[in-house]
Amino acid sequence: MENLQAIKQRFEIIGNNDGLNRAIDIATQVAPTDLSVLITGESGVGKEVFPRIIHAYSTRKHATYIAVNCGAIPEGTIDSELFGHEKGAFTGALSDRKGYFEVTDGGTIFLDEVGELPLATQSRLLRVLESGEFIRVGSSKVLKTNVRVIAATNLNIPAAIKNGKFREDLYYRLNTIPISIPPLRERKSDITLLFRKFAADFAEKYRMPPIRLTEDAMLILEEYRWPGNIRQLKNITEQISIIEQERNVDALTLKKYLPIEQNSLPALSAGSEQHDTNFASEREILYKILFDMKKDMNDLKRLVYGMLEKGEASHPSVSDITSLVLKDQYPTLPSEVINSTTDAGAHPLSSIQETEAVIEESFSLEEKEKELIVKALEKNHSKRKLAAKDLGISERTLYRKLKEYNLEDF
Ligand SMILES: Nc1ncnc2c1ncn2[C@@H]1O[C@H](COP(=O)(O)OP(=O)(O)O)[C@@H](O)[C@H]1O
Ligand SMILES: [Mg+2]
Repeated sequence: MENLQAIKQRFEIIGNNDGLNRAIDIATQVAPTDLSVLITGESGVGKEVFPRIIHAYSTRKHATYIAVNCGAIPEGTIDSELFGHEKGAFTGALSDRKGYFEVTDGGTIFLDEVGELPLATQSRLLRVLESGEFIRVGSSKVLKTNVRVIAATNLNIPAAIKNGKFREDLYYRLNTIPISIPPLRERKSDITLLFRKFAADFAEKYRMPPIRLTEDAMLILEEYRWPGNIRQLKNITEQISIIEQERNVDALTLKKYLPIEQNSLPALSAGSEQHDTNFASEREILYKILFDMKKDMNDLKRLVYGMLEKGEASHPSVSDITSLVLKDQYPTLPSEVINSTTDAGAHPLSSIQETEAVIEESFSLEEKEKELIVKALEKNHSKRKLAAKDLGISERTLYRKLKEYNLEDF
């Protein structure tokens, strides 16, 4: 398709994978129609550009385009956000308010994370899709609107239907035209292209020469599983761009930035239970821990970049930074521990990764897990059933962990 390159340029899409090209092709074909489109794909694969392409190539292109993140709006207000409300419909409804479906009349609505919509809202959505009719919250007057709906989700909707979380009729209605975006691990030849693009972008942003990968490092990048897809590749490229002084990045250095892959994660507690059903719950906790670690990493990044920018230290020593981070993250840690971990002298900035990794491995996994459990118990006033639910683990696992960490009196 001759148009393909132009679209990629206009929307800054990098890559030449068949699946990606096909998705762009379908998007442009379906754009001039008013059909609903459902975009599926794992988190971070690049779903958000597709509704913009479809709107831009439709006859509605001069009308309103609204993107709504359904997962980010509280359940209590979502109906009012989408369909509006009448004055007095609920406490705080001081005046009439138009919803997105009303203000986008003639245009396009992108419902991102559509799998997160509550069932009641799903019914309202089905109605507006089928007849263009909707009712403001607290009103009985039927209003009409003409809105093109594009939805996206990273959930397995058929599974959600089985669990009673998603209306089957709505799924078929939304899924008139399905577009699925392949995960990054299935787009190996695009990985190099994307990395180069991001490295160049961040070099410009931070006014440094772009990082480059050695051949064996590039191989590792291509073989990695990329659970967070392009978003993760972009984040990692940014982290390396900021932290590594040596702009030629080798395999060893790169590996420090790639989180341990799912199937090789260590079990939290050594025991025979690794393969029973608890394993899945432990994995859940580990995801939360990894998420926290990523946050730590970002804090560190910000700190280092701030120091570099202020010119406080062109080569801050690793001990300065690690002790700052440690004090911040683990305020209860005795100072001997902080000093012994950071007393390695003035290493160049590039060894921060190593030091942090060692610290995390030695005590942070358990600490973080304990912390999470305590927080969950506090939040739920020591009600173990509720705490277990919040933690996404079974009550049995929670009891075992309370015992393990001597938290039984909590
Ligand atoms: N093909 C691509 N070329 C360049 N950047 C991309 C591409 N696909 C995704 N990105 C970038 O990756 C990040 C994640 O994309 P996004 O559309 O938010 O993912 P999703 O909505 O599927 O989770 C964004 O910063 C986006 O700009
Ligand atoms: Mg998204």
